[in-house]
Amino acid sequence: MATKTPIRIAVTGAAGNIGYAAIFRLASGAVFGPDQPVALNLIEVGPGLNALNGVVMELEDCAFPLLTEVVATGDLNEGFKDADWCLLIGAVPRKDGMERKDLLGINGKIFVGQGDAIARNAKKNVKVLVVGNPCNTNALIALRSSAGLREENFFAMTRLDENRAKSQLAKKAGVHHSAVKNVAIWGNHSSTQYPDFTNATIQGKPATTVITDQAWLKDTFVGDVQKRGATVIKARGASSAASAANAALDTLRSLHFPTPAGEWHSVAVLSKGDYGITPGIMFGYPLRTKADGSWEIVQGLPLDEFSRSKIAITEKELIEERATAAEALGIKL
Ligand code: LMR
Repeated sequence: MATKTPIRIAVTGAAGNIGYAAIFRLASGAVFGPDQPVALNLIEVGPGLNALNGVVMELEDCAFPLLTEVVATGDLNEGFKDADWCLLIGAVPRKDGMERKDLLGINGKIFVGQGDAIARNAKKNVKVLVVGNPCNTNALIALRSSAGLREENFFAMTRLDENRAKSQLAKKAGVHHSAVKNVAIWGNHSSTQYPDFTNATIQGKPATTVITDQAWLKDTFVGDVQKRGATVIKARGASSAASAANAALDTLRSLHFPTPAGEWHSVAVLSKGDYGITPGIMFGYPLRTKADGSWEIVQGLPLDEFSRSKIAITEKELIEERATAAEALGIKL
């Protein structure tokens, strides 16, 4: 039995497809490391509660050495109690033909109650990652609903886009995806996001010197990454689950451990105006995690006219989403 204090992770939508794909890896030590105990607070609603009982049985049946406690509940106060991390997955997924922001009316209100319950029950330094869509604006709603917590501890997931972008660049270059680094996802986890190939590297060289087909980079690559979620929905008849769970866990790991020198990872955080972006929207940036667990936005990346025009589009969408959500919920965002 490991001796470190357990990290307590609260997961909403714990018995759903993404939750199911995530929690066994959390419990196994695959995220926080082989000497780090974890406790899980698993949260479900209504019909999901029965399935959650089965998930708890399966966790017992795994006899994970690092798993110290499992709380399974439909109550947000109990669910977020003493959490170090909240992984907000539970939300209605989009269907074929929808944009993620079409879910704002259905999902947005969930994050008001969750933000409030997190603020009242979780640890004061709790970190919150929002996966449920539209995740950037849902994260903003949760942040604004959680008085007393630290703004810099709220995140929305753009890592799935980063992983997708790396795989597409690797395929085109004919290299393994591990050779592709530093793909920043700017802006919204939506079809306006900008997967930045101009600052990416392939085998240590600028991606644009390895892949010189500018039309492919600017149109095919950017468009395919922007639409990948919809393409998966068309093929599966359901939205991505295993890859979304994987990206959520990649995000947790990247925010927990220091970022290797010269690299970065993508995640959306509350804009304070870096790179000229409107403050007060949850904007996807390249981040570095420091040794003390805090993070910084990578500064000084060159952005050409093409990049700037793409970033302006996704910024505008996030400003509009914020206004739509504020009006629908009757709150200040
Ligand atoms: C994804 O990117 O696969 C998820 O955000 C689900 C979706 O609606 O696309």
